[in-house]
Amino acid sequence: MAFALPVWLAVQEELLGHGGADSAASSSFDDFDDGALFQLFHLTRPCIAFITDAVRIRMKNVAVNTPALSVDATVMVALNFYAHGVSSAEVLQRLGPSQADCPEVICTVSGVIAGMADQFISFPLLRDAKNNVASSIRRVCGIPDVLGVLAPAHFKIRASPYEKETFRSFVNTLGYTSVVSQIICDSDGNILSVEKCCVGSTFEQEIWDSSFKGRELEEELHGPYWVIGGKGYHLSKHVLTPVSEPANDSETRFNEAHAKIHNVMRTTLGSMKRRFRCLMQLGFAQECSLDKKANIIKACSVLHNIAKKFSVPPPPVAGKIEPLHPGKQHSGPVTVNTEALQARQELILRNFSFAFTSKDPPRTSIMGEDV
Ligand SMILES: *[C@@H]1O[C@H](CO)[C@@H](O)[C@H](O)[C@H]1NC(C)=O
Ligand SMILES: *[C@@H]1O[C@H](CO)[C@@H](O)[C@H](O)[C@H]1NC(C)=O
Repeated sequence: MAFALPVWLAVQEELLGHGGADSAASSSFDDFDDGALFQLFHLTRPCIAFITDAVRIRMKNVAVNTPALSVDATVMVALNFYAHGVSSAEVLQRLGPSQADCPEVICTVSGVIAGMADQFISFPLLRDAKNNVASSIRRVCGIPDVLGVLAPAHFKIRASPYEKETFRSFVNTLGYTSVVSQIICDSDGNILSVEKCCVGSTFEQEIWDSSFKGRELEEELHGPYWVIGGKGYHLSKHVLTPVSEPANDSETRFNEAHAKIHNVMRTTLGSMKRRFRCLMQLGFAQECSLDKKANIIKACSVLHNIAKKFSVPPPPVAGKIEPLHPGKQHSGPVTVNTEALQARQELILRNFSFAFTSKDPPRTSIMGEDV
């Protein structure tokens, strides 16, 4: 992420104007003690205050057609929905007669928070930022020149089985109905990019090919860097996939390093889904209504990054973390990109042959489940 927390706070302060906003006086969140706050929103008070201020600044420019609710209250409704996927009685109680507007409020706030992505979800663009991201990844797994971990992120939805064609289009490789977005994260589990919201059966390679980040990277706009991709992607000069049939120790070691860094995405998505349980089940979907889902996914990604900045841990793991999706591969023949193959072989030779690992083993696990 480009800026440290103090910078964010200072910018926010500046935008709000000193003492001008209706924030400081009293907040609807004040009625809850810290334990209740975390229970209802899976966030802490300073983090919620930051989010509310950020939304308040932007709400000024959005026509809100629920004048009955203060910004505080609208943010409360939305954050509570993200945390639980439904509205809690404690929150509904506070809204009184205006609670019927909940779905609309959530929709509006999601749009506003999704719009904050420019500021809070940043792919490293400057040289220093790229170096930082790449060296953290190298420290974790020993693979140099990597700008992030790329994966399709599936989110469960409901689709009507009576509309057979549509229904089928939502069924993913794990056999349930979902929408899928493309996410790139760094070795700490910060989200660097989130794009697209497609029906669950979409090939991740197709999403990559038509995504902004995919095109930028493949067109060399980001320089000689890789992103780490699973088996569902084609090896390219910028997407580094594992060796499908490792033939010797070097390749095996490379695959282990690849798996280790790739696993960061699994913990990241796991932690997102624990904090924002709405992502466990995004509700009914039709192909024509994916925009709203996209906004919720994007909003939760923004909030995930903010929560990490404030070091708010997600709720503890209950049960096991969902595995990453087995790549969805085209069955037809794939033309091998020989240039990319060579680049990967050189990387393995340079960084994963014996001499290297004995001299300077990559640091093992700095990752907890807590990313
Ligand atoms: C490992 O196998 C690959 C593919 O056959 C080969 O290109 C590479 O030179 C081998 N590396 C070592 C260290 O034997
Ligand atoms: C690994 O690769 C990088 C970048 O290509 C290279 O500069 C570095 O010397 C290699 N590291 C080791 C320890 O071989």
